[in-house]
Amino acid sequence: MTATVSGPQADQAPSARRGSYWITTFGCQMNKADSERMAGILEAMGYTPGVDEHTADLVLYNTCTIRDNAEQKVYSYLGRQAQRKRANPGLTLVVAGCVAQQEGESLLRRVPELDLVMGPQHANRLETLLTRVETGQQVVATDEHHILEDITAARRDSAVCAWVNVIYGCNEHCTYCVVPAVRGREQSRLPEAIRLEMEGLAARGFREVTLLGQNIDAYGRDLPGITAEGRRAHTLTDLLREVHDVRGLARIRFATSHPRYFTDRLIDACADLPKVCEHFHIPFQSGDDAVLRAMARGYTVERYRRIIDRIRQRLPDAAISADVIVAFPGETDAQYRHTLDLIEAIGFDQVNTAAYSPRPGTPAADWPDQLPEAVKVERLQELNALVERVAAERSARYLGRREQVLAEGVNPRDPDQLMGRTRTNRLTFFAADPGDGRPYAPGDLVDVLIETVRPFSLSGRPLGRQPVH
Ligand code: SAH
Ligand code: SF4
Ligand code: F3S
Repeated sequence: MTATVSGPQADQAPSARRGSYWITTFGCQMNKADSERMAGILEAMGYTPGVDEHTADLVLYNTCTIRDNAEQKVYSYLGRQAQRKRANPGLTLVVAGCVAQQEGESLLRRVPELDLVMGPQHANRLETLLTRVETGQQVVATDEHHILEDITAARRDSAVCAWVNVIYGCNEHCTYCVVPAVRGREQSRLPEAIRLEMEGLAARGFREVTLLGQNIDAYGRDLPGITAEGRRAHTLTDLLREVHDVRGLARIRFATSHPRYFTDRLIDACADLPKVCEHFHIPFQSGDDAVLRAMARGYTVERYRRIIDRIRQRLPDAAISADVIVAFPGETDAQYRHTLDLIEAIGFDQVNTAAYSPRPGTPAADWPDQLPEAVKVERLQELNALVERVAAERSARYLGRREQVLAEGVNPRDPDQLMGRTRTNRLTFFAADPGDGRPYAPGDLVDVLIETVRPFSLSGRPLGRQPVH
C-alpha cells in the first residue's frame, strides 16, 4: 500500500480562518476518494493546506487494514504525532478509514492523544465530528451509517482525472477480507447524483472519471425499481449507458469488477460506448478451484477464463489487470502453480500481487493450515517475476503504434516530459514541448507514437492533439 498526500484544486471558498491541515492516505482508491472529500470539507471550514505533517495544525491519517503491514505502518506514523501533541496540545489528530473502523475505541486506548477516530462511512460528516472535538471531546464515530449524498465538493489531487464513488461497502463474504467489516453494507448512489457529479467535473475541466466500488458489479441492487422486463432498473451497464455522453469527459473507467457478477451485457456496453476505456480490472485471487472455494469467491477458473475470452472477442486489444493472493491457508504447491499457469495463459497487462495476511475477525485467519512466512516470501517473489515478464510481453505490442494518451501531469523525474495513460491504462511519457510553440498541457488528449516499451510503462513521440467531445 502506498501513502499519498492531497494536492491542489480547491472548489469552495473557506468560511473562516483555521489552521493548516495535512492528510496522508493509505490504501485503495476508495480511501483516496474519501480523502479528497475530507480535504474539501476542511477547506470549506477554513483550513488551509499545510506544508508537511510535522507542522500542520490538523493531521489526518486515512488508514488501510487490508494486510497487517498496511495497519502497522499507521502505528509508526501515529507514534511520532502523539509525541508532537504532547509538546503542542493545539494539534488536532484524526484517524479515519479502515483501521479506525476496525479498532474503534481501542485506538484511543493505544494512542490517547487522538482527538477523533472515524470510520469510512463517516467521511462526509467530518465537519460535524470536528465541531464536537472543538468542544473538548474525544470522538469515536464507527457506527453503521447511511452515507449522506456528498455535500461538499472534493479537493481533487488531479485536475484531469477524478474518482466518483458509485457504490459504497461490500456484501460479499470472501474468507480473507476485512473490507465488508470496515466498509459496511452496499449502498448505491442514485444515477442522477452520479451524472450530476460527472457533469460538474467536466465543467471544471476534468477529462477522465473512474467510477468506483469494491464490487462495482453489485451497483444498483440495493436501489428500488424493477423494469417492465422484470429486471433491476439499475445495473452498472445501465449506469454506463446513462453517463457515457457527459460532454467534455473524454474517458470513463470503472473498478473493481467481480468475476461472480460480471456480465456479457457489460462487455457489450464497453464495446458500444466510445468513452468507456478498454481496460478491465477483474481480480481472480487464485488460479485453483479448491482455493477459490475456500476463499468463497463464487466462481471457477473456467468461468474466469470464459469472461476474458468474451472480452477479447469483443475488444481484442483490451487490457486486463487483476489482483491475486498467494499462500492462502492450505494452498499446496500444485495449487499455487495453477495460479502461475493462469497468469501465463491469460497474459495479464498488470497484476497486483500479495501474500496472504491473516486479518482479525475473518474466517481464514482462524484456520489451522496457515503457511510459513518463508513460503509466502518465496511464492511472492516467483510470482512477481512472472507478472513482470508477462507484462513486458503485453507492453511489446505497443511498439510503433499510435496511442491516445491523456496527459495528466509532469513526469516527476523529468520536467521536460508529460505523463499520462493510454486508454488501456499504460503509463506513457512524452516530450511536453514538440518545438512548434504549442507545448502540450495536462488535460490534452495526445496522439503518441510509441518508441520505447517497458513492462509497466511506455515512452513515445507526440504527434498532435485529439479533440474532446
Ligand atoms: N473488492 C476487490 C478487492 C478489494 S481488496 C475484489 O473483490 O477483488 C484489494 C486486494 O487486496 C484484493 O483483491 C486482494 O487481492 C488483496 N487482499 C485482500 N485481503 C487480503 C488478505 N487478507 N491478505 C492478502 N491480500 C489481501
Ligand atoms: Fe473483499 Fe471480497 Fe468484498 Fe472484494 S468482494 S471487497 S475481496 S469481501
Ligand atoms: Fe484498505 Fe480499506 Fe481500501 S482496508 S484496501 S483502504 S477498503
